[in-house]
Amino acid sequence: MRAALWAALVVVGVIAVICEWLQQQYQQQEQDQHQHNEKLHHQQRFPNIVVMLVDDLGIGDLGCYGNTTINTPNIDRLAQDGVRLTHHLAAASLCTPSRAALLTARYPNRYGLVGEEGTVEVILNIASKVSLPLEEVTIAKALSAANYTTAAIGKWHLGQMCGAFGRGCLGPKRHGFQYFYGLPLTLISEAAGSHPFWIFPLDDPFYQGLTGGCLASVLVILVGWWRCKCRCLVTVIPLVVVVLVAAVLWFLLTHYRLHNQEWWSVSPWLMQHLNCLVMQDEVVVEQPLVLEGLSQRLVDQSLEFITNHANDSRPFFLYHSFAHVHTPMFTLPSMAGHSRHGRYGDNVEEMDAGVGKILDALTRHNLDNNTIVYFVSDHGAHLEAIAPDGQRTGGYNGRFKGGKFMGGAEGGIRVPGIYRWSGHLPAGVTVDHPTSLLDMMPTLLHLAGLPPLHQLLPNLPYRELDGVSVANLLKNGTLPPPRVLLHHCVQTIHALRLVQDKKVYKMHIAGHKWPEGSTQCGWGEESYCQCYGDTVQHYGHQLLLFDLQKDPYEDHPIPTNTTEYIEVTGMLQRYLANWRSRVPYPRSQFRSVANTILSPWLQPFRWP
Ligand SMILES: *[C@@H]1O[C@H](CO)[C@@H](O)[C@H](O)[C@H]1NC(C)=O
Ligand SMILES: *[C@@H]1O[C@H](CO)[C@@H](O)[C@H](O)[C@H]1NC(C)=O
Repeated sequence: MRAALWAALVVVGVIAVICEWLQQQYQQQEQDQHQHNEKLHHQQRFPNIVVMLVDDLGIGDLGCYGNTTINTPNIDRLAQDGVRLTHHLAAASLCTPSRAALLTARYPNRYGLVGEEGTVEVILNIASKVSLPLEEVTIAKALSAANYTTAAIGKWHLGQMCGAFGRGCLGPKRHGFQYFYGLPLTLISEAAGSHPFWIFPLDDPFYQGLTGGCLASVLVILVGWWRCKCRCLVTVIPLVVVVLVAAVLWFLLTHYRLHNQEWWSVSPWLMQHLNCLVMQDEVVVEQPLVLEGLSQRLVDQSLEFITNHANDSRPFFLYHSFAHVHTPMFTLPSMAGHSRHGRYGDNVEEMDAGVGKILDALTRHNLDNNTIVYFVSDHGAHLEAIAPDGQRTGGYNGRFKGGKFMGGAEGGIRVPGIYRWSGHLPAGVTVDHPTSLLDMMPTLLHLAGLPPLHQLLPNLPYRELDGVSVANLLKNGTLPPPRVLLHHCVQTIHALRLVQDKKVYKMHIAGHKWPEGSTQCGWGEESYCQCYGDTVQHYGHQLLLFDLQKDPYEDHPIPTNTTEYIEVTGMLQRYLANWRSRVPYPRSQFRSVANTILSPWLQPFRWP
């Protein structure tokens, strides 16, 4: 009995010793791993960069920009921990050109990625030739040259550059992104719901003609067969030919709209199947894309990217471009009906939840002090947007006048913008000095401690950048040198902004003739203010000048007989004349319908 007790004690003792030893080993291993990670982080001389770009989000749509009834806790938290920009300006009031400017630090007018009078204004088809030219250098190209791992996740909308049979659709990858997952184009209203394939309206003369032609041909063939009493085959072949010809005619004219006034457009069914895709690099992974859960799928991709590269020795650059809050409005059922602002508010909240997940992932991987985060919207909210059921589906630009599509109007270009780099940039600070989306590349390179573009890529032919580094402004409020910002409505300059140390003036050369008491052009998902034609007014010699510090909402033009007016407008006009003589704008890439139209031979497909 005593012996058994002793034996048991010895066994327990041995087990305890082994456990202790194992635990020590494990702790040691953990410590080693930790030290290893620390070393990696130490070696990682340059910080990671995460850019989060939202589509069509207005400056009045966020809690941290003064909205008291919308719920955006994650973006508000980002602002609390970073630098919030209150005078942050998009270079264009439309997706394609604004994104091009963001990524290249150059006005899209320099390379024709803007519309012209009478053309479309954004890329409308994946299978089309318009794109960000390869000679342009994006921040992803610059960061790739600095050994960053780069990824674009979400909406691209700068041309997928597909080759014949839809091969080699490497748009983002040709611009320095090593990985792409997302929408080659953008969300479009056709992405929602299902659209009929069988369209045969018999009240339309074309379809009447097609039916009549078919019936007549069949009749002729049958009568001929009966009269000549030939073999069956002789009838079958013409019948098959007639049916085929009719089917092809029907398809072309129904889905390609060739008989329509807008003959370059295609049917909603074709739009949904050919332009609502999700691609992973050059492979189509969803066709047509599924709206429900899209936001989460995109965020999950970014989380995976962060997790995969959190411990790399090379830094990473993640460009997460939300599909939200563009129309159509959709959320997970669990996120629907929460906001006081209807489906639009629900979309803002779903987007905010995505921001939260990305920020949490950075914190979880201990990357906050080692990652610069930049949050921004591509341009102002689409004021006219309204769903068929009457619900507003556009955002709010605060008290700034106008919105999306209106290049010179403040509401179209004044957007939310937040930079955060914990431990390196001040927290909870507001910068009221004007900054631009054009400044992203020079600023991020500067903040990260990298050389400017031309040193990073010494073989690059010289190009003038329109953006400047505002790194010191963010760090300690040092103002950048005075400058002039141009505000284009597609190809034409509608306004100029003089940014000096103490004063900010905006001069309007042209503007929109809004109906009394409104700053928008009608209502409807497809309604917007054109940059040309009847809705635009050129001020000629009656240029409008505003002092934006005294009058941020542009209610009181400076009287034309003051010295202030004469001096500032004179200076800006000289600047403009000099700019025009110095910087030629090429013709718009959208000018030729052959470039913008859906070209089926360039269409990428999901192969079964
Ligand atoms: C990138 O890596 C190459 C090769 O290791 C090195 O020569 C170069 O200096 C690195 N670039 C930067 C900006 O660190
Ligand atoms: C908050 O945002 C919603 C949605 O755009 C807008 O309708 C509302 O007017 C905003 N409210 C305030 C107080 O800014």
